[in-house]
Amino acid sequence: MADRVRAAIVGAGHTRFGALAESPRALLRSAVQRARESVDRGLSEGTIDSVVLATLGFGGWQIGNASAVLAEEARTVGVPVTRVENACASGGYALRAAADAVESGRSHLALVTGLEKMTDVPNARRRYWLGVSGDTEWERLSGLTFAGVYGLLASRYIADHREAREALAEVAVKNHRHGLANPNAQFRKPLTRDAVLAAPKVADPLGLLDCCPVSDGAAALLIAPTEEARRYTDTPVGIVGTGAGSDYLAVQDRPDPTHFAATRRAADAAFRHASFDRRSISLIEVHDCFTIAELLALEDLGFADPGGAVALTLEGSTARTGRWPVNVDGGLKAKGHPIGATGVSQAYEAFVQLRAQAGERQVPSAERALLHNVGGSGASATVTLLARG
Ligand code: COA
Repeated sequence: MADRVRAAIVGAGHTRFGALAESPRALLRSAVQRARESVDRGLSEGTIDSVVLATLGFGGWQIGNASAVLAEEARTVGVPVTRVENACASGGYALRAAADAVESGRSHLALVTGLEKMTDVPNARRRYWLGVSGDTEWERLSGLTFAGVYGLLASRYIADHREAREALAEVAVKNHRHGLANPNAQFRKPLTRDAVLAAPKVADPLGLLDCCPVSDGAAALLIAPTEEARRYTDTPVGIVGTGAGSDYLAVQDRPDPTHFAATRRAADAAFRHASFDRRSISLIEVHDCFTIAELLALEDLGFADPGGAVALTLEGSTARTGRWPVNVDGGLKAKGHPIGATGVSQAYEAFVQLRAQAGERQVPSAERALLHNVGGSGASATVTLLARG
């Protein structure tokens, strides 16, 4: 069976992630400009014919019509522009929407961007703004934040699986080690397991160093039909499978809280498109908003049986040099998590890795990548498969 190749990434741009002085407009402008400049054969004005923006509303400051701002900063006013909002999975869904537009023949060059500006939002307002992406009837009523929900999932997982707490700490250590080699990462400092375990608690058992940070940043991709991709570059990256899934919003409504059905559905759908299975994947980007999320993702994506992600992590299989390199850009944990930008940033990493342009953090022989993006505590998820050439 041949890959059902749908579309190809021909350019990608990324700002630094972190607490940044730039405005949302400046971040968008910069990510789009870098994506344009990355196109090997150049890009003439007026070539982009559809635009998609993933954002939760620039930290709440531009809740409505955020996409109009992108159109101005991308110099695409007049072209159809769509905003996608599926909480932290906005970027993955935006990528899928752009790939669909290209595959349908409606678009010949789609721009997909993700942006968030979170650090200048006061704490109480940020808690409200992030919290309303969770279940607002029960979880928020009982005072749960996202860290609180993932803390409960971590407690359940630790009760079921020996050495799980050590493995959670190792996820943070590994992803911070990976972040050291990523110039765009928010944190470029190493951690030890002892430091992770001793950090102040945010939502027991998760401590400060089990959490992703609050971040600003933007990323952008240019997507063309496969048969037109070589007009732009000799090394396009094919989008060979896109899957998406959904689940009940509140964790209490799901039969098993430590398995995300949305992830499973998205992965099954993505692999149905591709000519290869999980064994051929050489690079994995998972949604590690909290350390527990990386272990759950590896199991739901089919790389480990329930509880098996503990051994996989502790034996080093998920390190850059391991059998399944996971989050070699530092992941959400060290690279940062500007909500709308995250799913697009994962594709940026795969784009540079599959073109062997990742420098110090290059995964040898990276040919096929799996990207996994989750909305909130699992109500939505996307899985995207990318392949070199
Ligand atoms: N990992 C590592 N270090 C972190 C960090 C993190 N996640 N968050 C903050 N720090 C560091 C800061 O760099 C700072 O270090 P410094 O004193 O050396 O400068 C220090 O810890 C305190 O930072 P501060 O911003 O005051 O922390 P905070 O207590 O306000 O926030 C969290 C910490 C974990 C509560 C916050 O980062 C958070 O809410 N993260 C989760 C965001 C989220 O829910 N996203 C959606 C996911 S679904």
